[in-house]
Amino acid sequence: MYENEINRRRTFAIISHPDAGKTTLTEKLLLFGGAIHVAGAVKSNKIKKTATSDWMEIEKQRGISVATSVMGFEYRDFKINILDTPGHQDFAEDTFRTLTAVDSVIIVVDSAKGVEAQTRKLMQVCTMRKTPVMIFVNKMDREGKNPFDLLDELEAELGIKVRPLSWPINSGIKFKGVYNIYQDKLNLYTPNKQKVSETIAVDIHSADFDNMVGEDDAEQLRNDIELIDGVYDPFDVKDYLAADVAPVFFGSALNTFGVKELLDCFVDIAPAPLPVDAVERTVDPHEEPFTGFVFKIHANMDPNHRSCIAFVKICSGKFERNVNYKHMRLGKQFRFSAPTAFMAQKKETVDEAFAGDIIGLPDTGNFKIGDTLTSGENLHFKGLPSFSPEMFKYIENADPMKTKQLQKGIDQLMGEGVAQVFTHQNNNRKIIGTVGQLQFEVIEYRLLHEYGAQCRWEPMSLFKACWIESDDPAELENFKRRKFQYMAKDKDDRDVFLAESGYLLQMAQSDFPKIRFHFTSEF
Ligand code: G4P
Repeated sequence: MYENEINRRRTFAIISHPDAGKTTLTEKLLLFGGAIHVAGAVKSNKIKKTATSDWMEIEKQRGISVATSVMGFEYRDFKINILDTPGHQDFAEDTFRTLTAVDSVIIVVDSAKGVEAQTRKLMQVCTMRKTPVMIFVNKMDREGKNPFDLLDELEAELGIKVRPLSWPINSGIKFKGVYNIYQDKLNLYTPNKQKVSETIAVDIHSADFDNMVGEDDAEQLRNDIELIDGVYDPFDVKDYLAADVAPVFFGSALNTFGVKELLDCFVDIAPAPLPVDAVERTVDPHEEPFTGFVFKIHANMDPNHRSCIAFVKICSGKFERNVNYKHMRLGKQFRFSAPTAFMAQKKETVDEAFAGDIIGLPDTGNFKIGDTLTSGENLHFKGLPSFSPEMFKYIENADPMKTKQLQKGIDQLMGEGVAQVFTHQNNNRKIIGTVGQLQFEVIEYRLLHEYGAQCRWEPMSLFKACWIESDDPAELENFKRRKFQYMAKDKDDRDVFLAESGYLLQMAQSDFPKIRFHFTSEF
């Protein structure tokens, strides 16, 4: 029905460890799409340079990040949607959820630093979801690691086979360019932050080539390419789409170098919108009726405007403005008069959008993360797992007059996915679980400013919270009875075991072999 529209969409996220060059690469991709005209136009939404305590600065930066949460642009015949992910690791959960809304991922790695912690963690989510990934090794204009060593490191650290599709000619001050293995073309390096250098078709065995890059480097490249062909299997798009192989490109985002090679190959081979699993069935993007799910809620931090934006990934069909859609969890019809699409860095009201697109729906508290919208069918999209948090605190009411407000605030913030809440079975106290200290500050600040509630934190020592299940109901009951003082419920009333230490978790696992312990809420 909307075949052409849907097939030309490429919806993806760029992920990296902070500072590897994600913002710079995003900006250069927009530059190629003509979505912006000068470099430096994309404001970084990173919070990395801010001390944890500098909360107002974070506020300001969050303001910027709404606009850059999704950036759409046209390139060749394709409609590209880049989903931004927060750089700060304390918001890693946000990034995990964003990854459920993309069809593929580009990973940026700093050539000198190689694979870093955050990248490793995010790659695990891609592996779990079998998301196709491409890798861009950035900052080749600096002295970095040997590219062959880097490829080995990528394979070992990211747990995926790699296949170079471009290859650097030297690096650092001697960096001369990249050879495009994918297209058999040469791109000579002229450092330039604004312009794109010309690509030349050249036979690397010709004398011309030696003249261009110098004999030594020409010889080196020929040897390297021979080695690559000997060591790595020929590239097969099917393996990439099956998430078995990651194509690797080299370049310098800052100097707009090697970026076009990446982008051209990306639009050629990256998947168009893929089918999405719902509890009831798998939904094909080409089905005519509209379906979608909320993967992110962006609250307006200004207390005078309590509205939020719910980000919806369209899974199938066409979304239209002012048409009634069913909100599954509430069982109610909603129509949206001002849905927004994201083009470059602008939000604008749209009349229609297609599978693969992301739309923003202004909301006053009706949406929670994971909510499904449909044209009428009863469907619940899966795949928005919560991950076992890493830090835990009891949350207490610091103002007895505001109990209701506190309760409402906690409910809504958890619905937005700011953090996770568990209720201790032993004493009914509420525990907030986060991946970083910053989230506690976000919660405290927002409870006060948006709900007029005051909270107090009490430390607790907890190693992990894990979801448990068993095929043997009697054994599950037995476990819950024996471990009563360590049991909690999550927001959906599921059983969670609170392990105080790695040792106690191991003990529980070996004492109760029939119980399965899960570190994500979906299993
Ligand atoms: P991030 O979003 O992944 O955190 O990284 P970002 O793009 O902000 O890049 C981090 C730093 O690395 C920036 O420098 C950026 O200019 C630099 N950078 C990005 N790509 C390249 C490259 O190809 N070569 C070199 N040499 N540097 C690169 P900064 O000093 O932290 O910020 P800025 O003041 O330059 O914006």
